Amino acid sequence: MTTPQKDPLRTSLRHALHHRTLRSSRRKLTTLSPSSTDFSSNDFLSLSTSPVYRARFLSHLHSAPPLHPFASGGSRLLDGNSPYAEALESQIASFHNAPTGLLFNSGFDANVGVLSTLPQPGDVIVHDALVHASAREGMRLSRAGTRVEFEHSCPRSLEAVLRKVVEEDEAVRDGGRSVFIVVESVYSMDGDVAPLREFVEVVDRVLTRGNGYFVVDEAHATGALGPKGAGVVQELGLEGRMFVRVHTFGKALASHGDTRDYLVNYAKSLIYTTALGFPFLASIRTAYELLAEGETQLLQDTLQGLVTYLDARLQDLGPWDPTIFSVDHFPNSPIFSLRSAVPRELAAVCQRDGFIVRAIMAPTVPAGKERVRVCLHAGNTMQEIDGLVGVIQGWLNRPTEGKVARL
Ligand SMILES: Cc1ncc(COP(=O)(O)O)c(C=O)c1O
Repeated sequence: MTTPQKDPLRTSLRHALHHRTLRSSRRKLTTLSPSSTDFSSNDFLSLSTSPVYRARFLSHLHSAPPLHPFASGGSRLLDGNSPYAEALESQIASFHNAPTGLLFNSGFDANVGVLSTLPQPGDVIVHDALVHASAREGMRLSRAGTRVEFEHSCPRSLEAVLRKVVEEDEAVRDGGRSVFIVVESVYSMDGDVAPLREFVEVVDRVLTRGNGYFVVDEAHATGALGPKGAGVVQELGLEGRMFVRVHTFGKALASHGDTRDYLVNYAKSLIYTTALGFPFLASIRTAYELLAEGETQLLQDTLQGLVTYLDARLQDLGPWDPTIFSVDHFPNSPIFSLRSAVPRELAAVCQRDGFIVRAIMAPTVPAGKERVRVCLHAGNTMQEIDGLVGVIQGWLNRPTEGKVARL
């Protein structure tokens, strides 16, 4: 009789998943009912369903000459480059007031490419405590000698960290070694806008040799904030102070020419992957044309109106015991955090009534800061917001054992 084969790998995978189930942190892919109301996606301007966007995109596709390749032929450095891709990069760079642009296949790839390659051996990375997983991955792969975090969006903490670095590292003090300051302009989970101007002032004060380089991820600002949706950096006129800006709306980054060349030579997430094919390029081009022509201004304004409306409606819910419910919202941000000790329950109640919101759990957000993330879009309506707030109100007013909720 043969003994049953042991399969240590599968056992280990199953254990890991079981562990997540026990900790209520097991992730699952879900699909959405098309009739549900979107209060979750990052499609802030609702461009993905805009008839104007669709018509322009299809016309770009139709205008391609016969036999124009619709699929990508390889990586950018081999057969995946095209005059179309290069023209699009110039268009994006000019929209973002940058000398050059470089397309990556995703924002994740851009962050990994930038942060794994630009810091040179021994350089220092100083990053906000809440930067995205893609930036963390890039930093993990980098050759930087030191990586330190500062408190989320806190200029005082940045200053303290930088002063310590300068004190301990003579090469930084002398300007022979660079310090990369890695931040986002709008944080994906809290929706707050970073104090970029204050950060620049801190860097100028502490790194007096000009060896501080900002890498800013504008993923959640592009389209939604700034002039014509160009982002927070342009709103503040800080383009010249940012070394690299990552705009995931177009999966592109804005940078200086030599930085672009360096990335083309060294960023593995650009070099060793099949480039975006023509339909993807055409869709990015469509979005940037609409932004540049001011076609999205109305959508941006509508979105801001809805942000003000939801903010007021949530405030009307009144103060609650914060372990039950509280709202975190940064002015003008389309992202709201509904904090609760039971975010999954609140999200499930909203979803049952057709409102797509997501519970965001640790480790995506720090433990103890779990929440329901609500994201507004230009295509949402006040009636939809009323509906969502009504469901939240119903959930708050439900009979609870303790009945201690309302303050
Ligand atoms: C702040 C931030 N940067 C980068 C990314 C990755 O962008 P992409 O979805 O284009 O890979 C995301 C996406 O979740 C993000 O939230």
